[in-house]
Amino acid sequence: MSDDFLPINGTDYIELYVGNAKQSASFYQHCLGFALVAYAGPETGVREQASYVLQQNKIRFVLTTALTIDSEISEHVRIHGDGVKVLALNVDDARKSFAETKKRGAETVQEPKVLSDDFGEVVVASIKTYGETIHTFVERKNYRGIFLPGFQPIKSDLHVESVGLQYVDHCVGNVELGQMNRWVDFYEKVMGFKLLVTFDDADISTAYSALMSKVVSNGNGYVKFPINEPAKGKKKSQIEEYLDFYHGPGVQHVALATDDIIFTVRELRRRGIAFLHVPEIYYAEVSNRVGSIQEDLAELKELNILIDRDEEGYLLQIFTKPIQDRPTLFFEIIERNGAKSFGKGNFKALFESIEREQALRGNL
Ligand code: FE2
Repeated sequence: MSDDFLPINGTDYIELYVGNAKQSASFYQHCLGFALVAYAGPETGVREQASYVLQQNKIRFVLTTALTIDSEISEHVRIHGDGVKVLALNVDDARKSFAETKKRGAETVQEPKVLSDDFGEVVVASIKTYGETIHTFVERKNYRGIFLPGFQPIKSDLHVESVGLQYVDHCVGNVELGQMNRWVDFYEKVMGFKLLVTFDDADISTAYSALMSKVVSNGNGYVKFPINEPAKGKKKSQIEEYLDFYHGPGVQHVALATDDIIFTVRELRRRGIAFLHVPEIYYAEVSNRVGSIQEDLAELKELNILIDRDEEGYLLQIFTKPIQDRPTLFFEIIERNGAKSFGKGNFKALFESIEREQALRGNL
C-alpha cells in the first residue's frame, strides 16, 4: 500500500525480561523446541545483563536478565514478574518508522541508533506502547551477523528438535477497563494500523469472566495486535486477574503458528507443557458448529485442541496455562486452514476453562 507510512515486514523478535534467563533458555529449548543461537553477557563484554536468543523457524525470542541490583531490568521483573518487554518489528527504514510515529504522537524511548560490528550495522529505534511494553523498529538489511551487534553465536549442549512452530501469528495486550479504545486509537493514528474485528461482552462472556477485545493489524496483515480490556461480570474477569498480577497492562499471550498442530501439541505435551482443558461436551457439539474438517476429530479431542470456523475457512487452536507462577503470560498454538479470525466460537468454552483455573488460584 502506497499510503502505508509504516511498512512492517513482520515480528523481528520478542524480548522478555526474566528473573533467570539461563534457566528460562533451557525451558524454551527443552519444552518448546527452540534452538539457542546467540548470547550476550559478561563473556561477550556486556556487564549489566545477560541475553539468550532462541529461534524456531521465523520465531525469535530474546530472554534477558539483570546482573546488577539497580537495573531497569531487575525493577521490571520485581514489578511485573517475567514478561514481555519488547515487541520488535522488522522494518526497511527504522529512522523513518521512528520519525513517522513520533510525528503522530508516539512517546519515544530510544532515538534511532546505529549498532555495528564486523558483520555490518543495524539501526534500532523504540517507542512506547501499553504499560511498560515497547516497540523497537529493527532495520537489519545491512547486517549479516547472528542477531544484533554485541551478540555472539552460541552452541548449546542440548540437541533440540523443533516442535514445528513457524511464525508469530498475533500478540495480545491486556489493558485496564476503559483503555481499549485509547490503545486501538494509538495503533490506528500513530502506527497506521486498521481495526480488523471487535468482540464485545455479548460475544465473550461467561457468567463471570467477561472481556472486550478489538484486533488491529498493520497494512500487509503480517502484524496483528488484539487488545483486551475487562468487562463487568459477576466475579473477577481474567483480564483483571492479569492486571493485578502483572501490576498493569502488558502482553497476555503470544500466538505461535504451526502447519501441523497435532504434531506440535503432541510434542509439547510430551515435553511437559500444560494446556487449558475443555470438557468432553465441547467435542459433542463442535461438529455441528464447524462442519467437516481434514483432521481426525478423535485425535483433536485426545489432545484437547479447539476448532472454529469463519467465512474463509477453519482454524485449530489451543492455549497453554501461564508459563510462570504469576497468572500472566501464556502461549497460544494455532493452525490456520483459511480462517483469518481468532476463534470467537471457542471463547465461551475456553473462558469456562480459564475460570476453573482462576478459582483454583483463589482469584475468582
Ligand atoms: Fe489469540
